[in-house]
Amino acid sequence: MKTIFITGASSGLGKAAVKLFAAKGWRVIATMRKPEQERELMNIRNVTLLPLDVTDPEQIQETAEKAIASARIDVVFNNAGYGLMGPLEATTDPQIIRQIETNLLGVIRVTRAFIPHFRKNEGGLFVTTTSIGGLTAFPFATLYHATKWALEGFSESLSFELKRFGIGVKTVSPGGIGTDFAGRSMDLARHEAYQGAFDKMMTGAFGEGSVFHFSTPEAIAEVVYDAATDGRDQLRYTAGPDAAALYGRRLEIGAEAFRKELGQALLG
Ligand SMILES: NC(=O)c1ccc[n+]([C@@H]2O[C@H](COP(=O)([O-])OP(=O)(O)OC[C@H]3O[C@@H](n4cnc5c(N)ncnc54)[C@H](OP(=O)(O)O)[C@@H]3O)[C@@H](O)[C@H]2O)c1
Repeated sequence: MKTIFITGASSGLGKAAVKLFAAKGWRVIATMRKPEQERELMNIRNVTLLPLDVTDPEQIQETAEKAIASARIDVVFNNAGYGLMGPLEATTDPQIIRQIETNLLGVIRVTRAFIPHFRKNEGGLFVTTTSIGGLTAFPFATLYHATKWALEGFSESLSFELKRFGIGVKTVSPGGIGTDFAGRSMDLARHEAYQGAFDKMMTGAFGEGSVFHFSTPEAIAEVVYDAATDGRDQLRYTAGPDAAALYGRRLEIGAEAFRKELGQALLG
């Protein structure tokens, strides 16, 4: 039986991935900030809940050690993350730090914690949820893009470094997903000088007929499952028709033309 370790498993994509891998016969170590509040996953066979706030380096170490002591880990799915939206000028230092500590340092530290285990096993795979926002950029999401673009570069570089040990590195870049991302999880920074443009962008990105098609978390979890099991030497997986279309368009017309086209579509 294969084992996957998942972060951010309390909702959305992380939870859908727990259910899918468990249904496919995997053992799942589902980590979240408040496992004591989880009411569903503990009833699924082969799912173990462990506490993990990815901004807590000591807890990352402790939880990784517990997971490794309990099973040979085959896949680490770095998924915990959220979006900080709004004009840079309006963001506070604590907002910036929390975004970077969660989305970027969390992935870096969790990944580093499992490398010795994977090296010893002469195999293993890291899959990280980045975003179409790791391959393209939207207005008013500077810090989110800073973390997700960083994860794409981090993963590409790491893939060279770990290949010699039989360890794989992949990213899954979803477009919109119908989860708590645009609701309770989103952190907003507001500034009246930008409010009109910000509202326009939010409508263009999240409103009716927006550039995003909101896939179900279950559909995106299927892409994660494919990435985890297809055995291919492929770094990037876009997930969802909007992500494929946006990234395809960027590659087709080039980064500069795409930047102008998207800016026009979202801000006019
Ligand atoms: N939804 C989208 O449109 C979209 C698009 C592209 C990429 N993504 C990416 O997909 C991933 C999953 O997001 P989602 O859409 O499933 O949204 P979600 O339902 O809001 O799930 C986010 C998860 O991350 C967890 N999390 C946040 N901060 C954490 C921390 N410090 N330590 C541990 N866990 C933490 C949340 O836990 P709590 O329950 O404790 O808050 C929750 O389980 C994220 O990396 C996000 O950037 C989402």
